Amino acid sequence: MLRCYRHVKGFLKPLAETSRRRRTSAPCLSEDHIRRFISENTEVVVGRSLTPEIQLKLFTPNCRFWTERPELWPFTDPYWAIYWPGGQALSRYILDNPGVCRGRAVLDLGSGCGASSIAAKLCYAAHVVASDLDPVSAVVTRLNCELNNVEPPVCVTDDMIGSDPAGFDLILLGDMFYDEALANRLYRWLDRCIKTHCTKVLIGDPGRALFEGHDIRKLLHHVAQYELPESVREENYGLISSHVWCYQS
Ligand SMILES: C[S@@+](CC[C@H](N)C(=O)[O-])C[C@H]1O[C@@H](n2cnc3c(N)ncnc32)[C@H](O)[C@@H]1O
Repeated sequence: MLRCYRHVKGFLKPLAETSRRRRTSAPCLSEDHIRRFISENTEVVVGRSLTPEIQLKLFTPNCRFWTERPELWPFTDPYWAIYWPGGQALSRYILDNPGVCRGRAVLDLGSGCGASSIAAKLCYAAHVVASDLDPVSAVVTRLNCELNNVEPPVCVTDDMIGSDPAGFDLILLGDMFYDEALANRLYRWLDRCIKTHCTKVLIGDPGRALFEGHDIRKLLHHVAQYELPESVREENYGLISSHVWCYQS
């Protein structure tokens, strides 16, 4: 069982379990309605992550659904309401190494709150696509871009794993190794992206057991390590650091 829980009691299940749950689509609500719902049920968080320069609308103990009964939540599980430690390390690395994204076409796969896409935008990526299956993630990504005064990326809700990566120079994966089936699909697809298009891939992961034990790890080169801030450690029982990896050339 993975150890990435949140203090949202009974809300976000352990990641592995949650990812196998039935996915319901977002109810048919207008973008305005979803924007209002997000604004009323999140708090702007500044400075409690590895990237204090990026502000994000996230769940905090001050938000209603931190303690509310989960069955009252109208959407799929809100992965986008958390800034995951893997995404934090990845975004920190991008901001500290702007040359990685400058002028590049970037795909942020599993973009969640959109932080890594924002980091890529801040570092002058030529084109950024934020891909997440959850349509609410697209809305929150646009809201978070407004907060940070950056133009929103193109948001895609189709499953892009397996697609032709020809248009992308760089694929970003923040905390995407939490489910075995997903990890295996990524492993096969990334192998193809690298072999056929020499796509650069950056992976942020806080040392989750599934990632550490997966065959993909043997192909990767360690790029950076970041000590997690105290508040992030508290929210992610036992995790103390987060890492960035790329494929060995
Ligand atoms: C653990 S969260 C990480 C979010 C973000 N990268 C971060 O680090 O804060 C994983 C995200 O991947 C998304 N996801 C899962 N499978 C996906 C797929 N096949 N394509 C795109 N997004 C996917 C989920 O909806 C979720 O938002």
